[in-house]
Amino acid sequence: MPRRVKVLVSYAQSLDGHVATATGASRWISGPESLEYAHCLRRDNDAILVGRGTVVRDDPLLTCRLPGARSPRRVLLDSGLRIPLDSQVVQTAAEVITVVFASAPRLEQRDDTVRRFEEAGVILRAVPSGAPGQLSLSAIIETLEAEGVTSLFVEGGPRVITAFLKAGLVDEWHLVVAPIVIGAGVPAVGDLGVRDLAAAYRFETHSVTQLGEDLLWKLVRRRKQR
Ligand SMILES: NC(=O)c1ccc[n+]([C@@H]2O[C@H](COP(=O)([O-])OP(=O)(O)OC[C@H]3O[C@@H](n4cnc5c(N)ncnc54)[C@H](OP(=O)(O)O)[C@@H]3O)[C@@H](O)[C@H]2O)c1
Repeated sequence: MPRRVKVLVSYAQSLDGHVATATGASRWISGPESLEYAHCLRRDNDAILVGRGTVVRDDPLLTCRLPGARSPRRVLLDSGLRIPLDSQVVQTAAEVITVVFASAPRLEQRDDTVRRFEEAGVILRAVPSGAPGQLSLSAIIETLEAEGVTSLFVEGGPRVITAFLKAGLVDEWHLVVAPIVIGAGVPAVGDLGVRDLAAAYRFETHSVTQLGEDLLWKLVRRRKQR
């Protein structure tokens, strides 16, 4: 059966393709207009997903702060349940639906940490397959689909974005490029195993627009590989 959850990736990068400096600082690469655009994506999608690395580094709230808008369901990938309990996402889990996907063996431990996540209002979902740090994205998408999610906004970070690309799950890519150069930093996408240009992942340009000083490049999955 075809997948019914649309996956959209969006993040801000520098001209030289980095999403953070070498120390991991990413706030703020893009300008206010692009930040507002990210909030529109949060408003317009059923769920927003980031990995543990982004929660630990940035401690984001991942809510939509546009006036009167609802916030999406927050989805976090954290195989070993190591997201800090005092992070903003955990602390506000009673107010905004927050789902943490972790490995099944970790959740089966039923220890204090598991209980404290649940007491904070976090919904814990076990992912049966996948090595630690590499939870099965198809299993996660299936679970989200079964729970009524039709659109998923993947906001980062690079490990997660790379994994979604590798799994062939990216339907749309809304790339924000800011006119800054970082030099040595955190690349937006990691190793995809491409050694030959013919094997590069390809997308089709849908539109390019200016957001303040930044460019918003909307791309869609290429229907046919060359
Ligand atoms: N410029 C932007 O728009 C933007 C947006 C977001 C983030 N960032 C930056 O990105 C950096 C963090 O990125 P990151 O790459 O370190 O972390 P990340 O992609 O946010 O999280 C990666 C972690 O997610 C967990 N995970 C579980 N299953 C996974 C799977 N199938 N594939 C990938 N990850 C999986 C793993 O942790 P476990 O082993 O614990 O499961 C993994 O280490 C920060 O510097 C942040 O500021 C920038």
